[in-house]
Amino acid sequence: MNILLIGSGGREHALAWKLAQSPRCTTLWASPGNPGIAEVIAARGKGGCVALPLTDHAAVATFCAEHEVALVVVGPEAPLVDGLGDSLRAAGIAVFGPSKAAAQLEGSKGFTKDMCTRAGIPTAGYVRAKSAAEAHAALAGFSLPVVIKADGLAAGKGVVIAQTAEEAAATIDDMFGGAFGGAGAEVVIEEFLEGEEVSLFAITDGSAIVPFGSAQDHKRVGEGDTGPNTGGMGAYSPAPVLTAELEARAMAEIIAPTVKAMAETGMPYSGVLFAGLMLTAEGPKLIEYNCRFGDPECQVLMMRLESDLVALLDACARGELASAAAPSMSAENAMTVVVAARGYPATPASGGLIENLSAAEAHGAKVFHAGTAATAEGALVAKGGRVLNVTATGANLQQARDRAYAALAEIHFDDGFWRSDIGWRELARQPT
Ligand code: AMP
Ligand code: GLY
Repeated sequence: MNILLIGSGGREHALAWKLAQSPRCTTLWASPGNPGIAEVIAARGKGGCVALPLTDHAAVATFCAEHEVALVVVGPEAPLVDGLGDSLRAAGIAVFGPSKAAAQLEGSKGFTKDMCTRAGIPTAGYVRAKSAAEAHAALAGFSLPVVIKADGLAAGKGVVIAQTAEEAAATIDDMFGGAFGGAGAEVVIEEFLEGEEVSLFAITDGSAIVPFGSAQDHKRVGEGDTGPNTGGMGAYSPAPVLTAELEARAMAEIIAPTVKAMAETGMPYSGVLFAGLMLTAEGPKLIEYNCRFGDPECQVLMMRLESDLVALLDACARGELASAAAPSMSAENAMTVVVAARGYPATPASGGLIENLSAAEAHGAKVFHAGTAATAEGALVAKGGRVLNVTATGANLQQARDRAYAALAEIHFDDGFWRSDIGWRELARQPT
């Protein structure tokens, strides 16, 4: 079948790499794609990267009709929250990714919290506030630290953990003052949860559900998990801290009731559910949902996936997950290290020359392109904050780590930096 993949980051390069390996994939298109994705497609000799106007849903549908695209795989959240999935489905095209209504699980934190309350899903206590006055009044009911979140999509920046009452009050004023634009028109105030964070992925078509592995990432830019938040500086899978028992609990107490609640309210959720969990003393609690694969978590999941990605995503998109083969993940460990451009996350330096990726891959690693561009002369340069994801597998996490960093050492990119301690928490727990 012909497939159109939406997105341009490392997550989409990893998806493209796996989609293209499937015997079911005839032609792969990507929009907008990136130079790494273009390479994957060029190796197959069919398809390519196309700059479709993604907010013009009719134009995307027309492209699909003209190129006999039978499946659209949406990588990032923005087109889903914008309803691209609904428009394409209305045009008779199968889409991997939720409807606009169901994507509210990521698009509105208040929506998700209310759904948790209705379905009895364990999560932090909260209050939704539609005005600064309401929010200030609600603060009295929380102890410190307190978590304050802009309701809408804020590119991962709309969450503040306030340590003092002054900081909490100032955050509320900032959010209602427009610091996050429309995303802060409403805020959610939350109880602070103590524990370790872990990500759990599940694929669902609205009724059947299959677990799709666990991961942990490092959100802070600096060594030792310090400094400003980023989209993620590295990740590994599986996350041993989510034991089989805890995963079963999270599936039963969080994921399954969510899928049921969404179906019952007339917004069946179809696609990948990415649950950010806090492993508290009382058990796993939901921190947040994302309606897409994590970036860079997807890269480590794709490295471990042994079964056919096209068969899985297509069955999900068609509501036939119950009769599809369950995904199989290798028992190996995978790690990805993000190479970012100097200045990230504030103002990343653009245009730095990148060389020697094939030498890095000769070490058995995969280098996914997250923010690169090809110049007219055919050179590869940085474009964006997170530039490369150097990804490797191993029999244990230490081996995956050593392979990823050995590959990274081959790369020439003067403008790049990375964290040297990805996986530190887990590696410290493992026997040496
Ligand atoms: P979110 O965008 O909801 O994932 O929040 C970003 C980060 O803030 C999470 O990854 C957590 O590290 C932290 N966080 C969010 N909510 C809470 C909470 N209720 N308690 C403790 N930490 C939280
Ligand atoms: N790496 C976190 C995310 O994709 O949201």
